[in-house]
Amino acid sequence: MEKHIPVLLNESIEYLNIKDNGIYVDCTLGRAGHSSEILKKLKDGKLFSIDQDETAILEGTEKLTKISNDFKILEGNFVNISAMLAMQGIFEVDGILYDLGVSSPQFDVAERGFSYRFDGPLDMRMDRANNSLTAHKIVNEYTQEELEQILWNYGDEKFARSIAKNIILSRPINTTFELVSVIKKSLPSKILKQQKHPAKKTFQALRIRVNNEMETLESSLEQSLNLLKPKGRVVVITFHSLEEKVVKNIFKKYTLDEQQFYLSNLPYEIESSKDFKLLFKKPLKPTNTEVENNNRSHSAKLWVIEKK
Ligand SMILES: C[S@@+](CC[C@H](N)C(=O)[O-])C[C@H]1O[C@@H](n2cnc3c(N)ncnc32)[C@H](O)[C@@H]1O
Repeated sequence: MEKHIPVLLNESIEYLNIKDNGIYVDCTLGRAGHSSEILKKLKDGKLFSIDQDETAILEGTEKLTKISNDFKILEGNFVNISAMLAMQGIFEVDGILYDLGVSSPQFDVAERGFSYRFDGPLDMRMDRANNSLTAHKIVNEYTQEELEQILWNYGDEKFARSIAKNIILSRPINTTFELVSVIKKSLPSKILKQQKHPAKKTFQALRIRVNNEMETLESSLEQSLNLLKPKGRVVVITFHSLEEKVVKNIFKKYTLDEQQFYLSNLPYEIESSKDFKLLFKKPLKPTNTEVENNNRSHSAKLWVIEKK
């Protein structure tokens, strides 16, 4: 199985600005790449690592235990971050990290159904214990209009109508490869000849819908901003334009006064009266070397906001 190489690792740790006695939250434990580095920097501090995937919890715990005991794993969805921390008696923190999306091991296990590269059941749930909505249910039970909207909204798929129509005509569709062949049938040959996999957009769209990713991120980010101590930071690594849009909108809302929304093209800055500031206006991107070594990082962007 492919190893999960953490994306923008040095940059995200640097911008979390870790104090050795601080309290930090990693909302996306995964294989503990980022959590491990945070934990190594703590002396009297504490790390809370969240994940909704039981395999991530098992493997992440094993990895962190080898570093120190200054961590607590919280199993669940980061949409409940405030409540999960409150249960631990924590109401404010020094830094919160999100490394969004699916981890390489999730992608690489055919049975999870995330990947168009492996044949498996149409599942795509990160949280198999609590989420009853699978990709199979969407593909086999939703109306053509609902499917079209999902593919359009979450995959930016120009051929959403044709794919949705063929899905309805090809039911039942049980496996990832069956879905891939329906998608291929629905696309013009010039698109099929492109380097990008023809099923990429549809699979992304289904995954986002199955895991309710956008609404979850929006709500969680707002909670995170309200959990920060002064000088505390939220650091987010995004992988596609929909995630970027959610982060950008919330960060704007919390850093810009109303007039700045309208005057944002002025050549000079107006001091904002808001409680938060952006560390840099445009997100950071990985270096060429990182992209060469880890293909998963090619679309990654790092966003940082600080409580004043
Ligand atoms: C890209 S991986 C994180 C990788 C990790 N930073 C590392 O270096 O190993 C994203 C992880 O976040 C988890 N995840 C995604 N959305 C989540 C959510 N809403 N709540 C909890 N965990 C989530 C996924 O299950 C996955 O394990």
